[in-house]
Amino acid sequence: MRLKHCHNFHDYRDLARRRLPGPIFNYIDGAADDEVTYRRNSAAFDECDLVPNVLRGVDQIDMSVTVMGQKLATPFYCSPTALQRLFHHRGERAVAAAAAKFGTMFGVSSLGTVSLEELRKAHDTPQVYQFYFHKDRGLNRAMMQRAKEAGVNVMMLTVDSITGGNRERDLRTGFSIPFRLTLGGMVQFAIRPLWGINYVTHEGFKLPQLDEHVDMSGGAMSIGRYFTEMLDPSMTWDDVAEMVALWDGQFCLKGVMSVADARRAVEIGCTGIVLSNHGGRQLDGSRAPFDQLAEIVDAVGDKIDVIMDSGIQRGTHVVKALSLGAKAVGIGRYYLYALAAAGQPGVERALGTLRAEVERDMRLMGCPTVADLSRDNLRFRT
Ligand code: FNR
Ligand code: LAC
Repeated sequence: MRLKHCHNFHDYRDLARRRLPGPIFNYIDGAADDEVTYRRNSAAFDECDLVPNVLRGVDQIDMSVTVMGQKLATPFYCSPTALQRLFHHRGERAVAAAAAKFGTMFGVSSLGTVSLEELRKAHDTPQVYQFYFHKDRGLNRAMMQRAKEAGVNVMMLTVDSITGGNRERDLRTGFSIPFRLTLGGMVQFAIRPLWGINYVTHEGFKLPQLDEHVDMSGGAMSIGRYFTEMLDPSMTWDDVAEMVALWDGQFCLKGVMSVADARRAVEIGCTGIVLSNHGGRQLDGSRAPFDQLAEIVDAVGDKIDVIMDSGIQRGTHVVKALSLGAKAVGIGRYYLYALAAAGQPGVERALGTLRAEVERDMRLMGCPTVADLSRDNLRFRT
């Protein structure tokens, strides 16, 4: 299969599986424990039916949205993800360039492999900086200062990863940074020589958001260990309130799921919340964001921008989330599979696929703008 044969999420995933060494594919594709939440995230959309209206004049479709003060040409954006140069040697450079072409926002992770400054200079599309709360408070302040100076538009604090999720696929393959693989894992690398050649012939692997501040040289640092050793499980709302005040701009929390927490986020001055269970990678058994969306929008939707991610695989998923009141949705694996499959052309094709689906679906729904999408056009199965 080639890129030109990819027509939906599943095709990009299949192509990524063929191109990546098994341990890397499984790091992207995997989730926590029994992966129940991971499966539920997408299945949740199937319990909600669309009820279209006809004859509404849908020759022009405008799917643009404004979220956290940023104008986006598409209602979906690339959620921040770690380690992208491991998936394709151009990593974040490819994703940011593709997002810029589509006029949408892209996230840069604290565990990103290209510096937020380089990406900020290369594109003027809105940029999110995702970070974690470290035990070292000086480090947190330094990272925020750096992001401010770079001109980051939106600060996104991930609050669902206070400890590493139980990723059993990674335990089995030995996936860690830098690599320390099990024998089975090594065989997987050996049968994907093209990936290996690209990896070793391009610039060395770095974590530029962190390596100024953290010594990552002392042996294998697994993602789980980074969470457990570096991040601060004693973090509270008061700590975050301080950060929000210090940032003094667009600030959202990623990984809020309860109404009580959504209200707290409003109280401490956040301008957005991302309903997310981290794509099922953290707490297995947690509710799907789509199932929780209406409740949260009803509670705080008039005070704060409610965004969601986790499980988006289709234009209809985007349309359903927007109809319930989400201001925008984030995608993760969707663009990562495409990145792994074919670099920037892959991400561009994937964003194009999703955009074409949303456009077609809005037309078929009889809704020429995002403002026309509403709960009147949804019915939940009982
Ligand atoms: C992620 N995600 C993530 N989130 C975050 O806040 N910081 C990060 O560094 C990462 N890294 C990361 C790596 C990989 C490989 C994946 C798949 C995900 C979570 C991501 O931003 C988003 O919440 C989910 O991916 C959304 O779910 P879907 O779209 O993948 O189902
Ligand atoms: C993950 C982390 C890095 O989901 O957020 O793998």
